[in-house]
Parts: sequence; C-alpha cells; structure tokens
Amino acid sequence: MSTKKKCRFKLQCLCFPFVTPVLSAALAISVSIPKEVYEVARGDNVTIPCSFKTTVVLSKIIAMSVHWARLGKHPEDPASKILDYYYPANELDINAKYEGRVGFLSKPEMGDVSIYLSKVTLEDNGLVECAVNIAKDKDGVNTHATNLLVLVAPSKPLCSLEGKAEYGQDIMLKCFSEEGSPPPIYKWTNYDVRNTLRPDPPKSKQENGMLTLVNVSADNSGFFICTSSNKIRSASCNITVAVMPPSMNIGMTAGIIGASVVALVILAIVVYCCCCRNTEPSEEYEMEVPGEEDYDPKAKPLKNSKEYYDEKNEPGHNGDTYYDDDGEEEQEENKRSRPAMIPPSKPRSMGHSDS
Ligand SMILES: *[C@@H]1O[C@H](CO)[C@@H](O)[C@H](O)[C@H]1NC(C)=O
Ligand SMILES: *[C@@H]1O[C@H](CO)[C@@H](O)[C@H](O)[C@H]1NC(C)=O
Ligand SMILES: *[C@@H]1O[C@H](CO)[C@@H](O)[C@H](O)[C@H]1NC(C)=O
Repeated sequence: MSTKKKCRFKLQCLCFPFVTPVLSAALAISVSIPKEVYEVARGDNVTIPCSFKTTVVLSKIIAMSVHWARLGKHPEDPASKILDYYYPANELDINAKYEGRVGFLSKPEMGDVSIYLSKVTLEDNGLVECAVNIAKDKDGVNTHATNLLVLVAPSKPLCSLEGKAEYGQDIMLKCFSEEGSPPPIYKWTNYDVRNTLRPDPPKSKQENGMLTLVNVSADNSGFFICTSSNKIRSASCNITVAVMPPSMNIGMTAGIIGASVVALVILAIVVYCCCCRNTEPSEEYEMEVPGEEDYDPKAKPLKNSKEYYDEKNEPGHNGDTYYDDDGEEEQEENKRSRPAMIPPSKPRSMGHSDS
C-alpha cells in the first residue's frame, strides 16, 4: 500500500516540472514521511517526520486536521489513534496511551506535522500513519505510513531438552528468549565432551530455536549452546546433553552398580565360609605328624607354611643342612615339619648366604 502511494507521489514530482503553475493548482495534496523505517531503542525518544504539500496557499488555509494513528499489522486490523489536531480551533486530542509523551515539533498549519514520541514502549512498535485533511484540497493521497521499529535486546534464552536422552531416541532442544525486538534469530552450536566445536549431527534439524536430533547415541553427548540474537545484541544459554543407555539415568546406574557390588560381596562371604568349614584337613597331615600331640592340623600357620615351602622348595637345600639323609620318608617328613619350626623367612636368607 505504502509503495503504491510512494509511486504516485514520485509520479507527481516527476510531473511537476512539466506542468504549468496553473495546472499544478489542480493537483492534489500529498503527504510524505522520508524513511520507511525509524528505529528506536525501547525507552528512548524518537522523531517521526511528516510533511505535506497542498494546492491551497498555507496562509489561506481555512480549516485543516492532522491525524496520527498506529495501524494494525494487517490491513483489516483496526487502527488506534495517537493524536488528532484541528485547525483553527487548535484542538489537540491525544490518546490516553500517549498522554504526556507525544506532540508536534512545530505548527502543523505551517506544513510540518512531524511528531516526537518519548519513552517508547514495545507496544509502539509497528506501522504509524500520518494523515492530513485540508479544506478545499479534495484530491490526492493525504496519508503516508512508516514503520516504527522498537529495539529490545533479546533476554537470556532458556535452553531445555524434550524427550529422553537415551540411545536410539529422538530428542528436541528448545531455545527461547522471552523478550527481543525485532524477534531474535536462534542458532544452536554444539561441542563434544572435550569442548571442541563440531557440526550438527547428521539428520538434525534447526527451526525456530528448536534443534531436533534423531536416533541419538553416546556420540551426541556434549554441550549445546543456543545463541539468540537480533540487530542490537545477542544472548546465549548452554545445555549439557548426556545420552544414556535405555532406561538408565545416573541415579539408577549408580544404584545398580552399588547393588551388584553388595550382592557380590555377600556371595563371596557365603562361598568363603562354606568352603572353609567344609574343608577337612588332609589325611597326609594326620599321618605325617602323629607324635606331636599339641599339633593342630587345622591351624593356619602350618598350612600356609607348607604352601610357602612347596613353592620355595629348592632341591639343593633339601634337608642337607639340618638332617641326616635317612630315607625318603624321613626326608619327606622333615620337609613338611621343618617350616613349622623355622620361620618362613629364615631358609630364604640362608639360601642367599650359601650361594
Ligand atoms: C526524552 O523526552 C523527554 C521528554 O518527553 C525528556 O525529558 C528526556 O530527557 C528525553 N530523553 C532523551 C534520551 O532524549
Ligand atoms: C540408529 O542408529 C544405530 C547406530 O547408532 C543404527 O544401527 C540404527 O539402524 C539406527 N536406527 C534408525 C531407525 O535409524
Ligand atoms: C557450557 O557449559 C559447560 C559446562 O558447564 C562448560 O564447560 C562450557 O565451557 C560451556 N560453554 C559455553 C560456550 O558457555
């Protein structure tokens, strides 16, 4: 709509040089705002320029009215008034929403109907239209609209995860800033567990701040950062994704491991006790040490010593030092009874000194 108006306005401009002053008097009113967009940070002041040209000589204007309004997003949406001005009554009618923060910069009847708007809010964002009616100037386009773009930095976005971060599942990472004007653009980047930037996983999709990951695996674990940015600033959030085996979370895993350890320990104790109690002393022992009455074959030290001796037994040292070689059986007996009398460490040190 506005471009159409603009074209017509340009056409008029083009025509002016070729048209005689007499004919130009027949041409109509025109209203113009120089720029298509006026940017202002929320809370700041802005000036929206608007001027008009009329066939009526300014000093001879009998009656005129100026109207500023905020248009809806769509042509069918209702407009809301900002202010109305009537000349020569000098009546200024300001919408309560704008009371105290809007006004003309000069006298409208002099051709300049620009306004200032202070302490701009997000609600001021949108199309603003300037309209001028002048008595006896009936033709032409008497309105012009512009965009008032109120800038608001994106608020720190919220990162969230939807779905179960388990092998084979599809998950969605969401990112949203409560505030931001113009509406922020969201971008997800992701880093592996060593914090190295990596490309989005294959088949993933980014749309409106939502990152969809399909058939996730442990490889997808890492840090996901969403940056929400518009033309003035950016803000980001960070979410850690740890993809787990199905139906397991950290607590459950720890629980299962803990329970398994306890079960194993109990099993080990049970097995140990049963075996120890059921083990009968070997017949050899009873036969080999018949004379020693105090000797208890169940006593651990002997068993341990026997084992020790069997392991460390070296042929060259067999009974040489301590016993006469009276026969195999005696030697056997000696071999086995000796460790009970001599501390296990002794034969070893002697063996060393021998050689
Ligand atoms: C905005 O305008 C108001 C008056 O409406 C004035 O008090 C204030 O200082 C202005 N602020 C800036 C940043 O110009
Ligand atoms: C999911 O990924 C695994 C390997 O990580 C693959 O074997 C399996 O076929 C995939 N499933 C689907 C439905 O793509
Ligand atoms: C995201 O968070 C992780 C862990 O809190 C941290 O190591 C990493 O540096 C963060 N990345 C960014 C870009 O903030």
